[in-house]
Amino acid sequence: MDLASTIVFAGGEYRRYDEAKVGLLTHGLQYGTGCFEGIRGHWIPDERELYLVQLKEHYTRLHSSAKILLMTLPHTVDELVEITVNLCVRNRFQTDIYVRPCLFKSAETIGVRLHDIPDAFAIIPVPFGSYITTSHGLRLCVSSWRRAEDSMAPPRAKITGLYVNSALAKSEALMNGYDEAIMLTGDGDVAEGSAENLFIVRNGTLLTPDPSANVLEGCTRRSVMELAAREFNVPVVERQIARGELYAADEVFLTGTAAGIVHVASIDERVVGNGEMGPITAKIARMYARIVRGEEPRYRHWVTPTYAPRAQSATP
Ligand SMILES: Cc1ncc(COP(=O)(O)O)c(C=O)c1O
Repeated sequence: MDLASTIVFAGGEYRRYDEAKVGLLTHGLQYGTGCFEGIRGHWIPDERELYLVQLKEHYTRLHSSAKILLMTLPHTVDELVEITVNLCVRNRFQTDIYVRPCLFKSAETIGVRLHDIPDAFAIIPVPFGSYITTSHGLRLCVSSWRRAEDSMAPPRAKITGLYVNSALAKSEALMNGYDEAIMLTGDGDVAEGSAENLFIVRNGTLLTPDPSANVLEGCTRRSVMELAAREFNVPVVERQIARGELYAADEVFLTGTAAGIVHVASIDERVVGNGEMGPITAKIARMYARIVRGEEPRYRHWVTPTYAPRAQSATP
C-alpha cells in the first residue's frame, strides 16, 4: 500500500492521506505548536492478527501533552482507541505498523502563541519495520547537545517543536559514526536518548533517570520498570545518574516504542560489560517482545487485537 492511498483519520473523518492536506502557513508547522504520539502494531502472521501496544497509555499521555499546550483533544481515550482500531481495519494492514496521532495548532496565520487558536487532530498509520538495528549492540555517544529543560518547554509532554533537540543530537551522533546519542541535563546528569529512555544495571539493580531529569515519561520505560520488579525481582530505582556511571555500568539499554528494548554495546568507546547483551536486559527484552506480540496471557491488557471480532463489529 502506498502512502497516498493509506486511510488516515483527519478532521473527524476517515479519508485518504493525499486528500488530508495542511496549508503552508499552518501554525503547528511554522512554530512547532503541536503534540503527538507514536504507537506500535505488531503483525502476527500465524494468528492473522495485528496487536496494538498500550493504546490507552499513549492516548492518556497525549491528553496530558495537550493540556500542557492549552490544547483539547476532540476525543476521549476510549474513543481514540476505537478510532485507531478502525483505522487499522480499514487499511487491512498485514504488517508491523507505527501509528502517529498528532494534535496541532491549525490556524494559517502569523503570530506565535498557544491560546485562542483552533486545533486540528489526525491519526496517520504507516507500515514500519525496525527503527534502529538490533543485530549488534548500539554504539552510543554522549551528545554535545543538552536535553531541553522543563523550564524552557516541558519534555514530559511530547511536543512537536521539542524534537529539534532530539534531531540535533541524533544527527550529530550518526554523522560521527555512532548509532544514537545520550543527552545530558543542563546540570550534566544523564537524561535520555533522542527518542528513547535509558536504563543501566549496576550490581543487580536497575537504574533510570527520574522524571525530573527532563525525560519523556515513556510507556516502554514504565513497562520495563514493572516487569523488572514484578517478574524478575530486580530492584528498580529512579534517581540522578552521573555520566561516569554510564561507563561503569554492567549493562545499559534503551527503551522506546519505535526502538523497542535495545542493548548498548559501548558508550564513548567504553565497552559496556563484555559488549554482549547482559542477563537482566535479555530477560526483560525477551518478556517484553512476547507481551507486545500477544503471547503472554497475563499481559494481554497491554495489547489490543485489531481483527478480533470485537474490533470488526466496531467498524462504522
Ligand atoms: C524523547 C523520547 N524519550 C523517550 C521515548 C520513549 O517513550 P515511549 O516508550 O513511550 O515510546 C520517546 C519516544 O516516544 C521519546 O521521543
